[in-house]
Amino acid sequence: MMGTEVCVDWTMRLAVAALFLGLTMVITRDEEEGDLCLYEALSDTDAVLCKGLEVFYPELGNVGCMFVPDCNNYRQKITHWAEPIVKFPGALEGATYILVMVDPDAPSRSSPKAQFWRHWLVTDIKGIDIKKGKVQGQELSPYQPPSPPAQSGFHRYQFFVYLQQTQNISLHSKENKTRGSWKMDKFLNRFHLSEPEASTQFMTQNYQDSPNYQTPGAGSSEPKDKPK
Ligand SMILES: *[C@@H]1O[C@H](CO)[C@@H](O)[C@H](O)[C@H]1NC(C)=O
Ligand SMILES: *[C@@H]1O[C@H](CO)[C@@H](O)[C@H](O)[C@H]1NC(C)=O
Repeated sequence: MMGTEVCVDWTMRLAVAALFLGLTMVITRDEEEGDLCLYEALSDTDAVLCKGLEVFYPELGNVGCMFVPDCNNYRQKITHWAEPIVKFPGALEGATYILVMVDPDAPSRSSPKAQFWRHWLVTDIKGIDIKKGKVQGQELSPYQPPSPPAQSGFHRYQFFVYLQQTQNISLHSKENKTRGSWKMDKFLNRFHLSEPEASTQFMTQNYQDSPNYQTPGAGSSEPKDKPK
């Protein structure tokens, strides 16, 4: 293989490199900008969480088990988009479910002092609804989009669906005051929630840390936002 590097199209080279690394990916090309979009799958270790749950954002589609691609400003757009469609095709129509979305990597995966950051907590979701991707119920913590701090690396955004066996699931007032450092295991124990029925995660990092990020004025007309 060495020394035969003639004039291989670089898209092809990336695809070959990805195959070599054992990655799954789909390449799409933005018609207007000609950007290369790489949908890269999570590592096998991070993929163990991907069990029966799909998370759809506009433009991106299902990001379950993927890195949010570094193109079309997706990593910036996801910090503004409203809640995704969360679909649990295996839901029992007559059952009731709880949806939890957390960031275990707050403020960073190497030093997760504020894990778990609670991004979304909804109870009393009807099986018949979440089966079709409709998350409707008691919103104990409204959806907060992923906004990883600059220079903090990739964060995992994890989604868990639990079978809800009891009524009146609630947060203690202390838990409700802040989203960071949530003792999720205590919450789960309190309501006898052990194993999730379904789960998934995706990963993203601060968009300004991404190689393809263009600073405003250097070709991009996007306003510069301060991530939370
Ligand atoms: C606390 O509870 C209220 C009412 O359910 C909710 O609107 C608010 O977002 C909660 N705060 C947090 C940090 O979860
Ligand atoms: C749940 O809360 C409602 C309203 O506060 C109350 O009427 C009901 O008895 C509670 N149910 C349980 C199981 O605690």
